[in-house]
Amino acid sequence: MRYTTIGSGRSARRVSTLCLGALPFGTTVDEAASFGLLDRFVEAGGSFVDTSNNYAFWAPGARGGESEALLGRWRASRGIGEEVVVSTKSGALPRTPGTSYEDGSDGLSPAALETAAEASARRLGTTRLDVYLGHIEDHDTPIEKTAEAYASLADEGRIGVWGLSNHTLPLLERARAADTAAGRPGAQVLQYRYTYLRPRHWDPMANGRQVAADDGILEFVRRGSPVSGRPVLMAYSPLLNGSYTRRDRPLPELYDHAGTRRRLAALDGVAARTGATRNQVVLAWLMEHDVPVVPVFGASTPGQLQEALEAADLELAPQDREALEAADPAPDA
Ligand SMILES: NC(=O)c1ccc[n+]([C@@H]2O[C@H](COP(=O)([O-])OP(=O)(O)OC[C@H]3O[C@@H](n4cnc5c(N)ncnc54)[C@H](OP(=O)(O)O)[C@@H]3O)[C@@H](O)[C@H]2O)c1
Repeated sequence: MRYTTIGSGRSARRVSTLCLGALPFGTTVDEAASFGLLDRFVEAGGSFVDTSNNYAFWAPGARGGESEALLGRWRASRGIGEEVVVSTKSGALPRTPGTSYEDGSDGLSPAALETAAEASARRLGTTRLDVYLGHIEDHDTPIEKTAEAYASLADEGRIGVWGLSNHTLPLLERARAADTAAGRPGAQVLQYRYTYLRPRHWDPMANGRQVAADDGILEFVRRGSPVSGRPVLMAYSPLLNGSYTRRDRPLPELYDHAGTRRRLAALDGVAARTGATRNQVVLAWLMEHDVPVVPVFGASTPGQLQEALEAADLELAPQDREALEAADPAPDA
């Protein structure tokens, strides 16, 4: 396993560079299977798990909170404490059960964050949330107010590191400016859709508000905060839901362009040279990025988990890295 540090100063935590996504745990992946995957992940040195207060409200019979509650039961039954870091999120939980967050969500106001943090901590069986993220933008709350509220929760010891997911660059810049002016570390974790292939374009509204990290977001990470340095980019859906390898999961149309064909050819070249799978090369490429990246991958079977875990042992040779980088991902290049 590889490891990296998230946060700075007092709140710094060492985590595995592979983060296991717990989205389906407790809904479409049942308790026994989820516990088995979590146990195996930890046995292999994994120490970073991602969830949200809204996972997975869209599953049959679910309302959100099932994944956090499952993680709470798993931690209690295994006696897991500080050694596994859990990141969770709020802000995209439907306000009314049975609807979507598009119809109104818990949001990121100071009062909403207070309530949501308490509920997540209770479900996870902890008093302090290790990593706490704003899931989607809240257009009714100025981002400066949200940043201030996260800082207060951190000062009170109720959360460790905080961050933002799926926020557009102007909002990230405003949050950083407010935090820097106040001498606060600010968002030290960012969570975006990011993988080796680049989408042709990404319309957050048309895609359930998932936002892909583009060059602007990467530059924002690279530049870092004057107070706390570079945030860590948690790259979700790094395996494109299995589309790199599965015939039954064709690539979404957004990836149907010349840049994808160049990148898949480069990927296959490196996979052939290293004897690794496409998925493993993608995960290794992400973990060796020039900015700190932690892939947040999903696995619903032991075989899928094992394939991802083995990516942590794959070290790309300089010529492999160069071959991967040389393939221009841009649609029109
Ligand atoms: N912040 C956000 O808005 C946001 C959004 C999405 C996700 N996330 C986080 O990111 C995590 C991962 O997201 P994701 O599930 O989209 O990631 P992903 O790693 O791109 O996809 C995981 C899925 O791909 C398939 N898969 C995995 N390994 C495979 C293998 N070796 N061979 C073939 N198929 C394989 C499996 O599908 P099957 O299970 O169907 O077989 C698995 O569930 C989530 O659990 C969540 O924590 C965050």
